[in-house]
Amino acid sequence: MKQIIKTLSWEKDKLKIIDQTLLPEKEEYIELCTIEDVFDAIKTLKIRGAPALGIAASYGILLSVKKAKIKDKEMFFNILEKSSHYISGCRPTAYNLFYGVKRLNNIALRNRHLSPEKIIKKMEQECRKIFNEDIKSSISIARNGNTIIKSGMRILTHCNAGGLATSGIGTALAPIYLAAEKHKNIEVFVDETRPILQGARLTMWELKKAGINCTLICDNMAGFLMQQKRIDMVITGADRIAKNGDTANKIGTYSIAVLARFHRIPFYIAAPLSSFDFSIQSGNEIPVEQRNKEEITHIKGIRVAPEDVNVYNPAFDITPGRLISGFITEKGIFSYRDIASLTEYRGRGNL
Ligand code: MRU
Repeated sequence: MKQIIKTLSWEKDKLKIIDQTLLPEKEEYIELCTIEDVFDAIKTLKIRGAPALGIAASYGILLSVKKAKIKDKEMFFNILEKSSHYISGCRPTAYNLFYGVKRLNNIALRNRHLSPEKIIKKMEQECRKIFNEDIKSSISIARNGNTIIKSGMRILTHCNAGGLATSGIGTALAPIYLAAEKHKNIEVFVDETRPILQGARLTMWELKKAGINCTLICDNMAGFLMQQKRIDMVITGADRIAKNGDTANKIGTYSIAVLARFHRIPFYIAAPLSSFDFSIQSGNEIPVEQRNKEEITHIKGIRVAPEDVNVYNPAFDITPGRLISGFITEKGIFSYRDIASLTEYRGRGNL
């Protein structure tokens, strides 16, 4: 499977990312040289999507310890603690971000008998490992998801869970890319995804680039299409999955899941194990990010609502596990009832 987008890369001690706020008009890459640069890029959605956030946060921590003039081990662990706390505060919902922070802390602790320079080397290897694991996971998600895609299917997706959200070929879009490569005749319907249009701007951009047959719709059109029997399956990504299968994903996902259940259309979540938070029992424990009102009152800097209106802008919603037909992961496709058993796949100390 060809990877057509280089969403992020580690080059000469800098994290290079494609600036997703400029897409689809401009394909521009920027270099992040400090943990503050990484924090800002995540906060302003220059880099976004759960797995990509995990990778970026890990490299952010690496940058902080690499750039500091470390005198001794005490200073090293102080900086590690401060930067872990700092980067954990930039976006609250995607579990991958916290998973990445944990992995780097675990590797540092496991090697605390070494010198700070050597620990930093181990941390750099761990970042590369997280990056490569994500590429591999997306390929396995593609293979597993492809088994349920039949030629002729029309698939609805929401937000962007493609290459732009991972270091590989994506999560929800990965099986779609493979199915198309296998010459299955598929059509993808893409929700524009208000308020900030990840579907219209990003998913359409990458699907078109890959030559996939895709059609853009407004978020409020999904129900009508389902009623007309023009959707055979829904696949979206996830930001955090609780032990009972409750899933946080881009705002609007829950509405689609309810519509899909009403119309008896299978609704799948595609996500790597790094998006599963086994420490929480249900979606009630998932913190939902609230974003600024301008995302709703303005489009591309132009005001589309009266001045000084009240705005409510949650970035994610929670879809109950029982509405999800299956979770497409790198280890196979699982029911929400089987999620607790997936803990066995998490490596030692990687939780
Ligand atoms: O606010 P965003 O753009 O970071 O939201 C992204 C999503 O909701 C994605 O669907 C999710 O992170 C999965 S990406 C593989």
